[in-house]
Order: sequence, then structure tokens, then C-alpha cells
Amino acid sequence: MKTLIVYYSRTQQTEKIAKAIQKDLNCDIEEITAEKKYDGIIGYIKGGFDAGANRVCEINKVTKNPENYDLVIIGTPVWAATMATPIYSYLKEYGNQIKNLASFCTCGSSGYEKTLNKIAKTTGKTPIATMYLTKDEMENPEEKINNFENKINNR
Ligand SMILES: Cc1cc2nc3c(=O)[nH]c(=O)nc-3n(C[C@H](O)[C@H](O)[C@H](O)COP(=O)(O)O)c2cc1C
Repeated sequence: MKTLIVYYSRTQQTEKIAKAIQKDLNCDIEEITAEKKYDGIIGYIKGGFDAGANRVCEINKVTKNPENYDLVIIGTPVWAATMATPIYSYLKEYGNQIKNLASFCTCGSSGYEKTLNKIAKTTGKTPIATMYLTKDEMENPEEKINNFENKINNR
């Protein structure tokens, strides 16, 4: 199964998980970056506002066509109980090209369910596997990552 991981990460938490999954599944990976910077405290405020208001932002050109993959795994941090604006922007543009979906998010403690539901709704796909990791769980994420990968592999 040809698999692509697409993720956005502001402070490398989601990236850590995305890279671990990439290593295990030996698949392609694409980082989404935004034209608009969400760095620092101003970026945090902008991010919360943009995500909460369902806004989209300019994202940099992607290098991989999601249509060429059997499975696309979307990874995002939770922003204001939804996905990060750059991932929402990606899905608005490319979501309808995703054949099969899996998704995961990292968060402080809450908003993960809404986030995963919103990814499903935006792509119009029921995910074959989902996972969330809270800040505490990020310290030992291996078991959750294994379960997530098993669901994907046993499909
Ligand atoms: C703009 C913004 C909004 C956030 N909103 C939430 C939230 O609603 N719930 C939550 O548990 N964590 C929230 N967080 C925390 C992030 O989801 C968490 O730190 C995540 O692991 C960061 O991932 P990253 O390092 O890949 O950017 C928010 C962070 C940012 C920057």
C-alpha cells in the first residue's frame, strides 16, 4: 500500500510522531509549511484565531500528489479544538484527492475528538485509523503509535 504522511508542526511535537510513523511504515512524508508565520506568542494568538474562525492560509507548494497514494495519513496539532490552519488549508485544497484516510493529532489535553472528526468531515472520508496524543502521553507514545500502525497494516 503506497502511503503518504502529510503533517504540519509548529513546535515539532507532531513532527516527532510523523517521523516515527514514517520510519516504521517506510513511507513518503510531506511537511506543510505556511506562508504566514505562526511563530512565537503572536503566532499562537493568530493561530488560535484563524483555526477557531475556520480561516485558511496560503501554504507553500506541495511536492507530492495525494492522488498517487492509496493512503494519506494526516497529522496536525490541535489548535482551538480543531486542526491547525495550514492543515485545514491543505485539506480544503487536496482533501478530495485522498482515497483512504488515517489521521492523528497532538494536543495539550483536549479538543482531539473534535479535531479528528473535523478532518473526516473536511475530506469526506471515514478514517481507517485515528490516534491522538496528549502532552503527557507524548513522553511514552510507543504503544499508541504501535496500535495505530497495526490498524493500518491489518486493514
Ligand atoms: C494556536 C494554538 C491553539 C491550541 N489549542 C489547543 C487546544 O484547543 N487544546 C489543546 O489541548 N492544546 C492546544 N494547543 C496545544 C497544541 O495542540 C500542542 O502543544 C501540540 O502538541 C503542538 O504540536 P506541534 O509542536 O506539532 O505544533 C494549542 C496550541 C496552539 C499553538
